[in-house]
Amino acid sequence: MTGPRSGADSGPTTGSVPEVDLRTLLQVVLPVFREHRLRLGLGFLALVTVDFLQLLIPRFVKSAVDALSAATATSAQLLKLSGYVCLVAVIVALLRFIWRNLIIGFSRILEKKLRDRLFAHILRMDQPFFEQWTTGDLMAHAGNDLSAIQMACGMGLVAAVDALVMSTAALAFMLAISVKLTLIALLPMPLLIVCTRVLSGRLHHRFNLVQEQFSLLTEFARATLVSIRLIKGYTLEQFQERQFAALGAQYVRSNLKVAVIQGLLFPIATLVGNVGMLLLLYYGGTLVIEERISIGSFIAFVSYLYMLIWPMMAVGWVANLAQRGATSLRRIYRLLTRQPLVTTGPTQPLPATATIYSCRKLTFTYSGAARPAMVAVDLEIGPGLLGMTGRTGSGKSTLCKLLLRMYPVADSCLFFRGRDVNLLSQAELRQCIAYVSQEPVLFADTIANNIAFGRPEATMAEIEAAGQAAAIDADIRSFNGGYGAIIGERGVKLSGGQRQRLALARALLCDRPMLIIDDALSAIDVETEQQVLEGILTTLAGKTKTVLLVSHRVNVLRHCDRIVLLDEGRIVEQGRHQDLLANPFYLAMVEKQQNHA
Ligand SMILES: Nc1ncnc2c1ncn2[C@@H]1O[C@H](COP(=O)(O)OP(=O)(O)O)[C@@H](O)[C@H]1O
Ligand SMILES: [Mg+2]
Repeated sequence: MTGPRSGADSGPTTGSVPEVDLRTLLQVVLPVFREHRLRLGLGFLALVTVDFLQLLIPRFVKSAVDALSAATATSAQLLKLSGYVCLVAVIVALLRFIWRNLIIGFSRILEKKLRDRLFAHILRMDQPFFEQWTTGDLMAHAGNDLSAIQMACGMGLVAAVDALVMSTAALAFMLAISVKLTLIALLPMPLLIVCTRVLSGRLHHRFNLVQEQFSLLTEFARATLVSIRLIKGYTLEQFQERQFAALGAQYVRSNLKVAVIQGLLFPIATLVGNVGMLLLLYYGGTLVIEERISIGSFIAFVSYLYMLIWPMMAVGWVANLAQRGATSLRRIYRLLTRQPLVTTGPTQPLPATATIYSCRKLTFTYSGAARPAMVAVDLEIGPGLLGMTGRTGSGKSTLCKLLLRMYPVADSCLFFRGRDVNLLSQAELRQCIAYVSQEPVLFADTIANNIAFGRPEATMAEIEAAGQAAAIDADIRSFNGGYGAIIGERGVKLSGGQRQRLALARALLCDRPMLIIDDALSAIDVETEQQVLEGILTTLAGKTKTVLLVSHRVNVLRHCDRIVLLDEGRIVEQGRHQDLLANPFYLAMVEKQQNHA
């Protein structure tokens, strides 16, 4: 079972990457801000207008109350004032809708752009990258980090601007009414800022925990479902069930902890606000009694104080959002600036040499491995059928992957049509090769689409021809739906041999100059094997094509023009079937398979 890795130990997110300053980081998002400046400008204009309109309401109330207490109020005047209040409320509602649409909409656009960029970047990365970053890590970036950036650039920015405008204006109005009263009413406010900063920091921390546990839970479910046959085979259902229940319970506990803090935040804010109100009632009331301010002013003052509570809370909240956004931006930046180790050169016309690949003293060590997997390999790969065999772990797959440029190689040890591969365009090189990997990769799609994956424009006749060449046509026709049958996730509805032949049909359909088959006929039975081999040979007949066929089957190997025997990353023997019989390992392999036959 693949246990999901916690982010902390995986070099990618932490590690020796130098700290990047905020200005460099912001370069990731600033162009999008610039591109949408009109939208943002209008959005913030609407936001600020809403703030000012809201500040007008207490002034209307003040006029009404003052008129009432001075007994000069007429019903026409009151009607007019309440009409103003209603009008302002309608405009506020309208403008709120507008700024939400514009600004929050912008943050979604930003998120989408970053997500697309990240996805495109990840697609360009090479094999060493995917060995370092797990799918879970990458999914976390695509999910949590992008939404943190979206929050910071959307609601975070709105709250910051809103809080600034509201608090400045409310304060100005309050100061205009009474300086002393303002200072008194503000006394408990610093407490509010500190409380929200601390609590929302805690909230984020616990919220991250909830998200982490949720991904543990989904990863566990995913891993279980993927290996369901294995689990049933070992009757581990109850074991998995208990583990799932335990993870679920942990998730609920974390959620409850979040609820506790969320439950605390608003009561505390209200409490602090009410302490301010208490001070205000006492001192402000005194001022009214002493007739130093009017009742209307007093009531307006109370409204302004209420308006201040939200901005004060926002300060702590915004600080956390910004901090989180910056951390996420830093992680995304590191991911976006990672370059593939496998270099790529410009597209260039290549001579049509007979030899496709030349390995010259090709040595390769996997990063972090103690021993090289490929040692001083000298090999010419030209037209015809080249067989490759050797015990497990001898480096056969490694050589195939090096030819496909999945891993970086040193200069001057691997040549494609006479040119050093490090100077060639990767894409162009790969377009010359059809590859059937050791593990067939299939999609939950129709059989036809699986075969046509490398050539989506292929006609049905071509697809069927490829199916025949790979000796799978008869099997496919026996399925309900034939070529249109859906094969289930990763081909669960097929046998191992059928999956391998389907993968082969896909490669044959591509019709590329070179075909690499990495031990991909291993699950095919002996009778079908010859059919498959014939199919490959007839597809290639009359074309100067090169096939590299990794196999343990003597019956397959004996048809090869040349066989390479690998051991511990070295070529130990090279020649035709007859020549190789002198080698003890090869001879033992032949004898064993003859006995079985
Ligand atoms: N991604 C990898 N990282 C580190 N070591 C690897 C990796 N893939 C293969 N190896 C090691 O390289 C050696 C050759 O493996 P491989 O080429 O897969 O052998 P074969 O295909 O002949 O069975 C083995 O010792 C294997 O453990
Ligand atoms: Mg292998």
